[in-house]
Amino acid sequence: MHFSPIKRKGTVVWIPDNEEVWQSAEITKNYKAGDRFLLVQLEDGTELSYPVDPAALPPLRNPDILVGENDLTALSYLHEPAVLHNLKIRFVESKLIYTYSGIILVAINPYKQLPIYGDAIIHAYSGQNMGDMDPHIFAVAEEAYKQMARNNKNQSIIVSGESGAGKTVSARYTMRYFATVSKSSSKAHVEDKVLASNPITEAVGNAKTTRNDNSSRFGKYTEISFDRSYQIIGANMRTYLLEKSRVVFQSENERNYHIFYQLCASAMQPEYAHLKLGSAEEFNYTRMGGSTVIEGVDDRANMVETQKTFALLGLKGDFQMDVFKMLAAILHLGNVEIAAVGDERSSISSEDKHLSIFCELLDLNCDKMARWLCHRKIVTTSETVIKPMTRAQAANARDALAKKIYSHLFDFIVERINQALQFPGKQHTFIGVLDIYGFETFDVNSFEQFCINYANEKLQQQFNLHVFKLEQEEYMKEDIPWTLIDFYDNQPVIDLIEAKMGILELLDEECLLPHGKDENWLQKLYNNFVNKNALFEKPRMSNTSFIIQHFADKVEYKCEGFLEKNRDTVHEVLVEILKESKFHLCANFFQDSPVSISPFSSTINIKSARPALKSPNKQLRTTVGSKVLHKPQIVKILNSYTPIDDFEKRVTPSFVRKVQGMLNNREDVPQLMLDTKHLFQVTFPFTPSPHALELIQVPSSFKLGFLTRV
Ligand SMILES: Nc1ncnc2c1ncn2[C@@H]1O[C@H](COP(=O)(O)OP(=O)(O)OP(=O)(O)O)[C@@H](O)[C@H]1O
Ligand SMILES: [Mg+2]
Repeated sequence: MHFSPIKRKGTVVWIPDNEEVWQSAEITKNYKAGDRFLLVQLEDGTELSYPVDPAALPPLRNPDILVGENDLTALSYLHEPAVLHNLKIRFVESKLIYTYSGIILVAINPYKQLPIYGDAIIHAYSGQNMGDMDPHIFAVAEEAYKQMARNNKNQSIIVSGESGAGKTVSARYTMRYFATVSKSSSKAHVEDKVLASNPITEAVGNAKTTRNDNSSRFGKYTEISFDRSYQIIGANMRTYLLEKSRVVFQSENERNYHIFYQLCASAMQPEYAHLKLGSAEEFNYTRMGGSTVIEGVDDRANMVETQKTFALLGLKGDFQMDVFKMLAAILHLGNVEIAAVGDERSSISSEDKHLSIFCELLDLNCDKMARWLCHRKIVTTSETVIKPMTRAQAANARDALAKKIYSHLFDFIVERINQALQFPGKQHTFIGVLDIYGFETFDVNSFEQFCINYANEKLQQQFNLHVFKLEQEEYMKEDIPWTLIDFYDNQPVIDLIEAKMGILELLDEECLLPHGKDENWLQKLYNNFVNKNALFEKPRMSNTSFIIQHFADKVEYKCEGFLEKNRDTVHEVLVEILKESKFHLCANFFQDSPVSISPFSSTINIKSARPALKSPNKQLRTTVGSKVLHKPQIVKILNSYTPIDDFEKRVTPSFVRKVQGMLNNREDVPQLMLDTKHLFQVTFPFTPSPHALELIQVPSSFKLGFLTRV
């Protein structure tokens, strides 16, 4: 963030505020270097003596004429309060939820249905240029579609934001846009099927959390395939990092995956009688969060929708019943009671009703199951030992099995949807839509949040590098000198997590030790990083947690359970029993499942483009950096002399080049930043206050006589 050093009486700045986050304040007395207080007046008239750090004076407020811009890059000062204020004004005063920031669309979740998504709006955006229309998710979709068609190049839309921000809704809108504008005359209903993949994956992969009633608990990347005439011919999706722990554990006021509640709500229907289900209140895995219903959601009606959607994808009765059988089995498994036998052993009664239904549904040998849920086989080079398990260990084994079955089922459903979305015809191009779950921080954060936040760091990095690269290409194409201001590089935190001897490698190592423990791993983290890595901290009051400074926030993780969740293993004998099941689907799930010590090796594989871009960026920062900000520049002159409307008309690429030419012999570096909305509109993010501008005189050699002073 840049804080201009210029603080004259009358200048308006932003100062932090506990309630409003930022408050507008007018400086009432010139600030001199070294002053420890800034005398200001708040908008309500309150006079304030605001303590300041001379190295970081408060950020300047934009002139009112700029506020409400539909593109943030058009603001003179582009910092947090400027961005928030602009978004707020647009949302509160004009009910506008979308704003551009160059090629990025910023969306505010309105939490109510706005009349801006109908087919008529889709058609209004179709074929239009992004800059000619109000910012909209459809404009972004149109841009991707147009670029694909114009350049025969594949495109991607990345939707990011914290949980509940509106990613899934936005991703759905982009897909609906493509389905509508590229509608073919085919009878296969390809577009409808592509759209149908959403409610199904949401039924099995979304759940109520304290942040979002329909929170995606997995990442999803959908590639929509187009043929030579740019009509949809199918789709393919990949999913990432399903939150498996939710199957067996939900925090207060949270729910398990929607599908379980849909099924329980339909338990009374005769076709489900053999599943021996009841209300969601009767099952440990669905009642744990203490709230089995979501206000405004009818699970029973949604079950009918889920079934219809499956059917639309060609996944009919038998398939559906197999899926429901697996789900019911998981619920019964969660109700299997494990009794402690002394301190060292545990047992399951041969009468356990839920165990027998579980075994009946999955066609398993019940005695073996009861025995091997409570015992473990340890094979060493010289012998095989059977060890009893404590009640806690057995409950863990039971839960691990439930999680495994569910994650196989989830993958299986995704695979079958993908099959249903393959149609004859050759893919010419595709548009990818990435809806990954957002950065998360809760009161207690565990391995799941760590994975999610790590994935978000990787995504953020891709995003930074991509946007940086795109902008750079634009500048270079037009030979415009430029400076990059405040490029946030999150490589250090990624290194902390994934580099050699980083958090993950130490975790994997600990998992390989026969007596590996969460606490031992944490101790190694403390030894390696405390006071050595600024992004890692040990909380003062805890010996069981660690803190990581992520790009979005600081997050405290509790180490408990990291090893077990990272190992993600089900006892081998249990796998053998499931392999022997006569229920094919179940047996197939456990055939030769690849052994993976860590879920990371296969799941997050985003190639870093770091080496190519880091050095130029660094160089720019050190060589160009701050010095450009203190010298009179063409930017200031233009701002001072030209009303904003004239700017739009007059500042063309050739004009910029002309000005650049005039500046060639000057010592200072011109500071220009492009707005990609209108290809060569120029905006100047860090100009000084209007008061300083008044003092500037334009040398006649600049030949800028056509400009008028504002
Ligand atoms: N454009 C919109 N118009 C109206 N309501 C919206 C819009 N976007 C989001 N919402 C509301 O906000 C809720 C949460 O949005 P969504 O599920 O898309 O969040 P998310 O970013 O995907 O969160 P998570 O990371 O938890 O999956 C939606 O269920 C919907 O009620
Ligand atoms: Mg979502």
